[in-house]
Amino acid sequence: MGRYRDEYRRALTDPAAFWAEQAEHLRWERRWDRVLDDRAAPAYRWFSGARLNICYNALDRHVEDGRAEQAALIYDSPVTGTIQTYTYRALRDAVARFAGALRAQGVQTGDRVVIYMPMVPEAVIAMLACARIGAIHSVVFGGFAAPELAKRIDDARPVLVVCASCGIEPGRTVAYKPLLDQAIALASHTPARCIVLQRPQLAAELTPGRDLDWNEVMAAATPADCVSMAATDPLYVLYTSGTTGKPKGVVRDHGGHAVALHYSMRAVYDARPGETFWAASDVGWVVGHSYIVYAPLLLGATTVLYEGKPVGTPDAGAFWRVIAQHRVRTFFTAPTALRAIKKEDPQGEWLKRHDIGCLRALFLAGERSDPDTIRWAQTMLAVPVVDHWWQTELGWAAIANCRGLEPMPVKPGSATVPVPGFDLRVLDADGKPQRPGEIGNLVLKLPLPPGTLLTLWNNEQGYRDAYLSRYPGYYLTGDAGYVDEDGYVWIMSRIDDIINVAGHRLSTGAMEEVLAGHPDVAECAVIGVADALKGQLPVGLVVLKAGVNRPHAEIEQELIARVREQIGAVAAFKRAIIVQRLPKTRSGKVLRATMRAIADGVPYTVPPTIDDPRILDEIAAALKP
Ligand code: COA
Ligand code: AMP
Repeated sequence: MGRYRDEYRRALTDPAAFWAEQAEHLRWERRWDRVLDDRAAPAYRWFSGARLNICYNALDRHVEDGRAEQAALIYDSPVTGTIQTYTYRALRDAVARFAGALRAQGVQTGDRVVIYMPMVPEAVIAMLACARIGAIHSVVFGGFAAPELAKRIDDARPVLVVCASCGIEPGRTVAYKPLLDQAIALASHTPARCIVLQRPQLAAELTPGRDLDWNEVMAAATPADCVSMAATDPLYVLYTSGTTGKPKGVVRDHGGHAVALHYSMRAVYDARPGETFWAASDVGWVVGHSYIVYAPLLLGATTVLYEGKPVGTPDAGAFWRVIAQHRVRTFFTAPTALRAIKKEDPQGEWLKRHDIGCLRALFLAGERSDPDTIRWAQTMLAVPVVDHWWQTELGWAAIANCRGLEPMPVKPGSATVPVPGFDLRVLDADGKPQRPGEIGNLVLKLPLPPGTLLTLWNNEQGYRDAYLSRYPGYYLTGDAGYVDEDGYVWIMSRIDDIINVAGHRLSTGAMEEVLAGHPDVAECAVIGVADALKGQLPVGLVVLKAGVNRPHAEIEQELIARVREQIGAVAAFKRAIIVQRLPKTRSGKVLRATMRAIADGVPYTVPPTIDDPRILDEIAAALKP
């Protein structure tokens, strides 16, 4: 572990010198007074006093430095039959124009702009345009339903929303604009303006006095220049699932974020300027923010924006076609996508039709990578398959096999080692360090490196309560795991009620709130049960109020529809089971972990505090597929 160990040690022993060195890769308008500002610890800040613009560093800088005609973004959309390339110059010009359009609508530095769009170039353009004028973007994933969008609108209080008329899912067109209208009606905050991208597949009706057509505002706009931002200013708010129905608004800064992402492209991914980098995620998730939009562009690479699925658009060779066609060198996806391909094409027949010799490595994150999937991908693709671990809060990988520093042997099932900057520890319930092989809570010693969350939007106390209070001086990841004798980290499970469905992070607490809102429901519990394709799937166990005697099947269908309408299709909530009672401890705590073990068919011990052990047999019978 020569180069890796050396860099890891340097990043922790002298973080200021280490990160100042990494910051030299970017262009600053004013240099920092302090690299690591610990004056308000535990609210650490990076590069205080410095000024820059991240959009300038992602676009204009490359245009000025000779990359103007290089492809910056390739939009590949099998669902619309479109492939469109933006050079750095073209992307810079489009972003500057849309930034001017935002300005013309009164958007000021520090204002929030919500972006609710499918995987179209205009989503990326809108994000970078916000960054250009110092507005704070908040992208909401298109698979969320109107009430979830409303929650985010109420928390972020945007002056303007950018939306598309529709998204295209296999077999159906999803009308986004009516969802936005519904969300605005539900929300107590009302944005002054909505800019709507009309897609040819389904035009939206515009609300007079509020809605504007994307093309019209672009045509009328004067391009806007980059504004100077403090490195510590907020760049974006991205909501993620917590343990309750209220999403958490993760706040990212301009300066530290740019430095960390640029560093990660070289150290973790071994990516170089001019190469093609493809993260098959969605701009609504953190992977999309970091590795579809900001990081590849900060590096001067070409990024791919893919509007499609791993299978069915049109076939299980879709990913391999994109890799071959755009000469993708580094590819990043979620294990669930590989499992979907493996299920349809176990022998790799579709793969044989495409020459993916350009590919150097495959990176997986978002959920646990099961060893079978890793081994299948290793055999099929004949490139290193690298599992790496991170979270929305962290913004970039905290545990990885750093291909750009020193590739290490892959141990399928382990995310490898902590990335330079992340001081990972495993603690027991009392805060005592665990020995190698002993499972405990994964925590990161403060300060976190640049690029990680500053706070939660409008909720500094919530940030401290959720992440910093459990072990003072440490950030609580919410994951449990262990470190083995070789220093490899093994992620085992979440310690809270967050589940991971097809790489999407969801809150069972939020689903329980929705089920509990049904008039016939007395109480309920939602658990994540193992699923061979999506990793986990939510299952709701519901007890009805006394006296309700409608057919159970009817109520179960209503509950399924309710979660889809209130949280979204992405929750993949397809199983609600009515039971007589829920297993509880004598103090009334629902035994979710025990039910999960029953559903997964794994051994469990009956908790000694259980109120009535006979209920477990009833639950086991109800959970039978
Ligand atoms: N807008 C509207 N609806 C969306 C959506 C979007 N942006 N994204 C997903 N949905 C809908 C889907 O249409 C589906 O609806 P359905 O219940 O009517 O079928 C539902 O949400 C669940 O979607 P998804 O999780 O994508 O599952 P799927 O069954 O359509 O496809 C996989 C299965 C494995 C192919 C798919 O989950 C996949 O590609 N996952 C990759 C995950 C990923 O990249 N995650 C990012 C983490 S880094
Ligand atoms: P998100 O914030 O959506 O990126 O989800 C973060 C959570 O997903 C983590 O806290 C983990 O529980 C899980 N996760 C992400 N990457 C991995 C991985 N490589 N291995 C295991 N779990 C992961």
